[in-house]
Order: sequence, then C-alpha cells, then structure tokens
Amino acid sequence: MCQLIRVIGQPMMRVSLAAAVVLGLVPFGWWCFLAFTDGLGANPAQYLTLSSGEWSLVGLCLVLAATPLQRWLGVSWPLRHRRTLGLFTFFYATLHALAWAFWEQGLVLSAMGSDVVTRLFITVGVVAFVLMVPLAITSTNGWLRRLGRSWKRLHLLVYPALGLSVWHFWLVRAGKNDFAEVRVYIGITLVLVMLKWVRLTRARQRAG
Ligand code: HEM
Repeated sequence: MCQLIRVIGQPMMRVSLAAAVVLGLVPFGWWCFLAFTDGLGANPAQYLTLSSGEWSLVGLCLVLAATPLQRWLGVSWPLRHRRTLGLFTFFYATLHALAWAFWEQGLVLSAMGSDVVTRLFITVGVVAFVLMVPLAITSTNGWLRRLGRSWKRLHLLVYPALGLSVWHFWLVRAGKNDFAEVRVYIGITLVLVMLKWVRLTRARQRAG
C-alpha cells in the first residue's frame, strides 16, 4: 500500500510542482504576450515597473498566507510549494528593481545612489528588497540544514519585508492620492501578522 502511494504520489507531486512553476510564470508570460501584441501601453517601461512591483507584493502575501490557508481552510497546495512561490516572488522583485535601475536610472550608479538617499519610497523599497536577498539565498535544503533552528528565525524577515513593501506601495500611491488598493494590502498584512503572532504565542505556551 505504502509502495502504491509512493508510486502514485511522486508523479502527483511533480504535476503539483509544475503547476506552481506555471503559475509563477503567468505574469512573465502575460508581459511577453503584451509585448508581442503591442499591448504594453504608451509607456511600456512604466507598465513593467509597476506590474512587477505589484506581482512581488502579491507573491509575498501568498507566501505568508500559505500556513494560515492550510490551517484554517485546509488548502495545502501553497504550503507545499512555498519555496517555489518565494523564489518567484524574489524573481519579480529583482525584475522590478532592475526595471528601476535600467529604465529610470540608466544603470548609472551615482544616480541610483542619490535616488536611494533622496526619495523615501525608493529607500523603503530598497530596504525591503535587501531583506529578501538572504531569504532567497538560504532557501535551499543545504542552508536549511546548515542553519538549523536559526533558519526559521532568519525567515521571519519576510514579515518586515512585507511591511516595508506595503509602506513603499503607500508612498508610491500617496503621490497619486490613490489609496484604495493599498488599504487592501494593509488589511491583508495586518491579518497575516496577527495570525503569525497567535501561532507564535501558542507555540511558546506549549513549550513552556
Ligand atoms: C530595489 C528596490 C525597489 C525599488 C528601486 C523600487 C522602485 C519602484 C518604482 C520606481 C516604482 C514606480 C513608482 C511610480 O511610477 O510612481 C515602484 C512601484 C511599486 N513597487 Fe517598488 N521598488 C523596490 C522594491 C519593491 C518591493 C520589494 C516591492 C514588493 C515586494 C515593491 C512593490 C511596488 C509596488 C506594489 C509598486 C506600485 C505599483 C502600482 O502603483 O501599481 N517594490 N517601485
């Protein structure tokens, strides 16, 4: 029976992983489609900068919602592929940062540096991105083993990364006086932080 489950389970796991990879590539594929059909609008660079920023934020929320989705709704798929989803999130955040560096700053280091220190929303975005770097680097099994218990502690950085990303989004939209969407992300962030706090408190009570 165990053997049968293993034989059926492995291809199922591969299909499920393939689904996560396909899902992760949807925004990129959509941009390619728009690029080939002249659908990126009057300012393609701006469209791609904004779109990659939004998808990074969606990814961060999905990664953090993986555990609550399994616990409270019994949906285990995001938790099973959290690492893949996390790496795609980092991929879109990197494209977002590159879009700014390339299209807004012409890859001139001095211009990038002065933008980081003079515009608060850029400073906040860069800090959020920097926090995501060690998470992406240590997402492998090797690092999980090497870091042991510290791995979990390190990966709590995803919460400040989300908080700063939402603040960054708020600052971007403040310039346009359009907060409707940002308020949704603030709500999602508060719920995710609260659920994490409840889980940590319960775990601490059980341990001591
Ligand atoms: C190196 C780090 C970052 C830089 C330089 C950066 C830069 C920018 C720029 C230039 C914009 C467009 C502003 C405008 O056109 O008015 C933007 C928007 C945005 N960024 Fe970032 N960002 C960074 C990190 C992040 C991160 C880590 C996230 C989320 C995970 C993020 C999410 C967003 C969102 C949601 C928007 C607004 C999209 C919209 O208005 O539809 N950014 N960012």
